Amino acid sequence: MIQSHPRISKAVIPAAGLGTRFLPATKATPKEMLPVVDKPAIQYVVEEAVAAGLDDVLMVTGRNKRPLEDHFDRNYELESALEKKGDADRLAKVQESSDLATMHYVRQGDPKGLGHAVLCAAPHVGDEPFAVLLGDDLIDPRDPLLKRMIEVQEQHGGSVVALMEVAPEQIHLYGSAAVETTEDSDVVRVSGLVEKPDPADAPSNYAIIGRYVLDPAVFGILRQTEPGRGGEIQLTDALQQLAADEKVGGPVHGVVFKGRRYDTGDRGDYLRAIVRLACEREDLGPDFRAWLRRYVTEEMQER
Ligand code: G1P
Repeated sequence: MIQSHPRISKAVIPAAGLGTRFLPATKATPKEMLPVVDKPAIQYVVEEAVAAGLDDVLMVTGRNKRPLEDHFDRNYELESALEKKGDADRLAKVQESSDLATMHYVRQGDPKGLGHAVLCAAPHVGDEPFAVLLGDDLIDPRDPLLKRMIEVQEQHGGSVVALMEVAPEQIHLYGSAAVETTEDSDVVRVSGLVEKPDPADAPSNYAIIGRYVLDPAVFGILRQTEPGRGGEIQLTDALQQLAADEKVGGPVHGVVFKGRRYDTGDRGDYLRAIVRLACEREDLGPDFRAWLRRYVTEEMQER
């Protein structure tokens, strides 16, 4: 049964991964702290949650993740040094991340998978719908995906996942959704989900990208979800249960995203995100674009 819809105010950000694709940079630094232009990747994600109206943020962290907590906390030493110098611009930059949202942290302990990370959020979230944002997916701030997902959740109840059409040879990297159309061209009904399928078994080329709005019924299901792909407790498997029996936590819908998204967990895409966002920055963009144009022209002449 679909209950009344409390306003969604909590965001959960799993951030316990080891970041092995970025070694050696991530040997002593969490991958979430790698800069995209001049801001750590994780700050874009927290800003996205806040822009969608979610100002209560729970990070699910692990060992070696102290810099994340420090980044979203005050840094009095730095602040007073900048104050003394009268450097208001930089002071504002330092204070921005600590003023963003109310931050909470919980440790995952054992790295038992994304589903397990989300389950660690249960005591904090309680019995209300909530959002999950994966740090590796960077959604361009001008394409407000999460806001739309919250609207769809408020309209239909249940849970909502973000979907993006990918090339068939890419689908094995994602959760793949079986979908049916609805009256809204950007919304589909999800009838099934498979985590990282072999291309031949994928129900569609609609890939889950790392944004979810979930009914709290997912916690009960996650407690009973057996390890799946990679021996990990998969969020996709729990969502498959929700999609299969809507009496438990309402339906599952998908918002089809056609905007700009970068997978900052992939080195190539990470570089593309930096180039693109740097080009578009008012302060850095003009010089950087001019240099890039020259560089590309020279590169093409050499080939
Ligand atoms: C996770 C999810 C997967 C989803 C992906 C999106 O996988 O398990 O269903 O498609 O995020 O980025 P990961 O990339 O963490 O292995």
